[in-house]
Amino acid sequence: MELRAERDSDVDNWKEVTLVYNSALKQISTKLEILNDEFGHVHSYNPIEHIKSRIKTSESIVKKLRKHGHESTIQNMVRYVNDIAGIRVICSFTSDIYQIADMIGNQSDIKVISVKDYIVYPKPSGYKSYHMLVTVPVYLSDRIVDTKVEIQIRTVAMDFWASLEHKINYKFEGNAPAYIKNELIECSKMVSELDRRMLSLNEEILMINEEQKRCV
Ligand code: GTP
Ligand code: MG
Repeated sequence: MELRAERDSDVDNWKEVTLVYNSALKQISTKLEILNDEFGHVHSYNPIEHIKSRIKTSESIVKKLRKHGHESTIQNMVRYVNDIAGIRVICSFTSDIYQIADMIGNQSDIKVISVKDYIVYPKPSGYKSYHMLVTVPVYLSDRIVDTKVEIQIRTVAMDFWASLEHKINYKFEGNAPAYIKNELIECSKMVSELDRRMLSLNEEILMINEEQKRCV
């Protein structure tokens, strides 16, 4: 991200950086809301349950830079920290996740930098989610800034699991006892099974609806 040349105050530069990331979050949120509305119009159902977004605190940005051995400069934050702007999209069904990911990826102004499919390849912890790192252009008065946003897309069940696991990890500072870790892995398998059964139930209902429409 190019900063305004005439400024040399870090505070002003940081304010500008957060403004740009906030704008990027607004853009992605609006895009997702539009896609959800359009999907509702065409298919009579909304794939998105809810959306949460956040800007990473400066403390955790600095912590992440330090962890990777980088000096805490604004340039390094922008270059090396990919999740300064983060958005989480919660859906009902696994199939919704891939539809949303495709719709996002197909937008011509969005560039997909990388994708991590932790649904097909869950983390050893049991974590499941679909991650996309994208850039979206933010139009300022004198320039366009391609801004990175991390998008996490997951089902309600995956989100339930991830928030409890996060709480447990926080409590034990990443060193939870083995029996708790194992129980989390078991729960993660139950999440997969629940998602699979809920999806197939939903597909049955859709099929019945289609048949009823044909008979009318
Ligand atoms: P970070 O350094 O944590 O950002 O990891 P990364 O750059 O390798 O990216 P990754 O896609 O693995 O994870 C990014 C984000 O996904 C994290 O900040 C969490 O929000 C979420 N996440 C990843 N792994 C886990 C996990 O095991 N449990 C939970 N609850 N969340 C996770
Ligand atoms: Mg992160």
